[in-house]
Amino acid sequence: MKNIAILTSGGDSPGMNAAIRAIVRAGIYHNRRVFGIYRGYDGLIDNEIKELISVDVSNIIQRGGTILKSARSERFMYPEFRKIAFENLQKNDIDGLIVLGGDGTFKGASIISSEFELNIVGIPCTIDNDLFGTDFCIGYDTAINTAMEAIDKIRDTADSHNRLFFVEVMGRDAGLIALRSGIAGGAEGILIPETVTDIDALVTTLNKDWKRTKSSMIVVVAEGDEEGGAYEISKQVKEKCPQFDMRVATLGHIQRGGSPSCMDRVLASRLGLAAVEALVNKESNLMIGIVNQSISKTSFEKATKHHQEINAEMLHVLDVLAS
Ligand code: F6P
Repeated sequence: MKNIAILTSGGDSPGMNAAIRAIVRAGIYHNRRVFGIYRGYDGLIDNEIKELISVDVSNIIQRGGTILKSARSERFMYPEFRKIAFENLQKNDIDGLIVLGGDGTFKGASIISSEFELNIVGIPCTIDNDLFGTDFCIGYDTAINTAMEAIDKIRDTADSHNRLFFVEVMGRDAGLIALRSGIAGGAEGILIPETVTDIDALVTTLNKDWKRTKSSMIVVVAEGDEEGGAYEISKQVKEKCPQFDMRVATLGHIQRGGSPSCMDRVLASRLGLAAVEALVNKESNLMIGIVNQSISKTSFEKATKHHQEINAEMLHVLDVLAS
């Protein structure tokens, strides 16, 4: 193998910088030159490629975001632009690429690796945690802690005013942020796309809780719930329960930022090193993840085709403890 390049693509996630640092340091350790590609696949098409040396990644392990910037590239969907991207890699003598991102990033990686002589390895980075083949994606732990802290703060004010709050968290197709932050925040309900949302059942639960003189109630809603986001759902509940004093809070992109948690930094360090070592061993077309605390390898096709299942035991925890 000659040189290695890294790019970050799709929605950023806390811990991407820790992974970039790990890749640069591990690449140098294995006697490879390491290049950073800026702005994801768009930067690869535009040849925004620069060598990274050890000092370039000093003091970034604790920083949120990505020093390489990120983008969701439209052009990379077209073969003529993927050809330009590959030629830019060739110009820099790069034959190993590490892509950091989620579903869309790996779909792009899978296509280009089938078209050209190129070894590609992926590292799962998405706060949604919705990739198959890894228990945790980089950024998820930080995001759920951010959401949990926000829910705790909302609980204080909800309790003072005897209010019902609907808190919307991120997760277009997945409810994993809602599930964990909701359990940790003692939510009275969690609405997620993976389970059927029954507004009448929710209303029955909320009424029951209120009769038990709960001084506050919080329902965590994943943005991708099939009944809509927190605003839409609160409107439906208000029609059936006009007696509730209700408010809605949308946490939004605050969940994507901030200094990565210890767990995300350690995960990023392990996956970054394992990704470089996979390339050194000439492995390709796979995502490096973590399953039962050990490094795992899953093809891009599998990682993006299947979804992480919602653990039924976690739903049971919520049901029993919220009642
Ligand atoms: O995929 C991560 C994610 O944060 C989703 O939870 C969210 O729906 C989406 O990205 C938002 O994307 P953007 O930053 O492009 O608005």
